[in-house]
Amino acid sequence: MDTTIDTAQNLPANAPPELPTSPGPGSPESYVHLAPPYRMDATRSNEERIEIIKKGIVIEHAAYTAAMDYAYWILSQPDGTPGRGMLLMGEPGAGKSTFGEELARACKGPIVMISAEGARSMREVYGRVLQALDGPVAKSMHTPDRELAVIRLFRALQVRAFVVDEIQDLAKGTQREHERVLLSIKYLSNTARIPLICLGAPESEQTFRMDKHLAKRLRPFKLPLWKLDQSFADLVSNIEATLPLRKASALRNEEALRYLIDISGGSLREIMARITCAAVRAILSGEECLTLQGLKDAEFPPARPGTGDGVNG
Ligand SMILES: Nc1ncnc2c1ncn2[C@@H]1O[C@H](COP(=O)(O)OP(=O)(O)O)[C@@H](O)[C@H]1O
Ligand SMILES: [Mg+2]
Repeated sequence: MDTTIDTAQNLPANAPPELPTSPGPGSPESYVHLAPPYRMDATRSNEERIEIIKKGIVIEHAAYTAAMDYAYWILSQPDGTPGRGMLLMGEPGAGKSTFGEELARACKGPIVMISAEGARSMREVYGRVLQALDGPVAKSMHTPDRELAVIRLFRALQVRAFVVDEIQDLAKGTQREHERVLLSIKYLSNTARIPLICLGAPESEQTFRMDKHLAKRLRPFKLPLWKLDQSFADLVSNIEATLPLRKASALRNEEALRYLIDISGGSLREIMARITCAAVRAILSGEECLTLQGLKDAEFPPARPGTGDGVNG
């Protein structure tokens, strides 16, 4: 693994009035440690940069990109092409829902995304689809009526894809409920002739074991639990290159990478949470870069405004 520490730093001359210890905003070109599309962000005010960091930036790591490329591929096939589908699996916090949301955001035309969390019957699943579409859904509405309403809405709104998150929950009912819900999902995507994109826990392939046809059309993809290897070093470099900090960070070394894996158990959610907190603290303190010590200190959130120098711990 390449564990070279990137020591390149930029120290623009002018300090902003609110934080004398922080380097002032230089020109975007001076932030060579950032990827070009993110350099402008580093020129913004502290408040704006903190907002950008808190909002989160989606990192297109290799496993994410492989899954997204396939999703785009099946979505780009002519309307009505049958049998299109995929199943994206990963541990909680791996980025499955983020993937679904990004797909829905980036895709032209509506994508319906629901969570099957706690849903064991098709009646509930249809209810959630209708809710997602702001369609009519009376409690008394029976399953066949719901099904009809869903199919009509899919057609009328020219829905491009059906995304079902937490798909493993469909297997938590009785065997009969499970069989019926799989049949209905298959019927729905066959009738609407749109791609079916399932997101779920690592064991989700088991959810489809009872329906070989459905299982076959769902190409499997996995989002990893991160470990200390080249891919993780690349992920962290990627993150460093997008965060609007004004100096080059120094996390691409074995000690810092190992620390991140240890505290997160490899979960991207935990990794991003710690890095986000460290990045906000780095702006508030004027340090303007991520370091191993900064990551350790970021176990604690920054102090509330007006209660100190903005950082504690
Ligand atoms: N591709 C990504 N790039 C950056 N951060 C991500 C990415 N995917 C997930 N995350 C972070 O992990 C958190 C959990 O992701 P989420 O999609 O909810 O996981 P899951 O649905 O697999 O439980 C997100 O809120 C975000 O902070
Ligand atoms: Mg999720």
